[in-house]
Amino acid sequence: MKSALREVHTVDVIDWFRDQPPLESCSIIASMPDFSEFPQFSLTEWKEWFRSTAELLMTRAPENGVVLFFQTDVKLDDGTWLNKAFLCQQAAEKAGSLLLFHKVICRAAPDRPTFGKPAYSHLLAFSKGIRDKVENATADVISQMGERTWPRGMGLNATRIAIEYIKTHTTSGTIIHPFCGEGVVLAVANAMGLNAIGIEKSKKRAEKALRLQVYPSQTSKDGFRFEP
Ligand SMILES: C[S@@+](CC[C@H](N)C(=O)[O-])C[C@H]1O[C@@H](n2cnc3c(N)ncnc32)[C@H](O)[C@@H]1O
Repeated sequence: MKSALREVHTVDVIDWFRDQPPLESCSIIASMPDFSEFPQFSLTEWKEWFRSTAELLMTRAPENGVVLFFQTDVKLDDGTWLNKAFLCQQAAEKAGSLLLFHKVICRAAPDRPTFGKPAYSHLLAFSKGIRDKVENATADVISQMGERTWPRGMGLNATRIAIEYIKTHTTSGTIIHPFCGEGVVLAVANAMGLNAIGIEKSKKRAEKALRLQVYPSQTSKDGFRFEP
């Protein structure tokens, strides 16, 4: 069996997508950077950046692919709530994509207050042409994100669920992961037989993303682990 391919581009995500010919046979998983990572932006400017970048990803994805967003809201210091699922939905309306699912991934135990970030993250799927297989419904509330390589990373369990969805609903042979960070999505995609393309502006994280491996695990609820 041919092993799955991986490449990581150390460039700005927006430049990379703008330079691509029409994308084929791929789906996209994005975890877009938070407002706190843009000290030069006001909240209004960051929201505009977030919406226009999400719209670019959805516009560039092929009709027969899906675009998944893994995002965590922010409880802002002024007592308002920054709802990233709403921003993704606004971008989807402009791109002509429809929402296929909105899953909630627990980050902390229920029935207790959390500060700064809520006790859950969103996992959202959008597509222009794919429709959900409603008879094969999967869980909407996921009890754990799974092990991570760093605090801003996607967890192994959330990543596996995202890629399983792409494998069962599309014919995509490649996962494109803009803002790939340390590369857990690329590693899980390869372990599940899909090619993976990462885009990351930090050279250090891009190098890690090119090397990171995961290993199937029967004993971990994540389905994978980082150690052999
Ligand atoms: C929330 S983290 C993504 C984490 C990743 N999903 C993981 O599991 O490790 C966002 C990443 O986006 C990168 N980034 C931010 N703006 C970028 C841009 N315009 N182009 C490329 N990478 C960018 C940051 O360096 C950071 O590593």
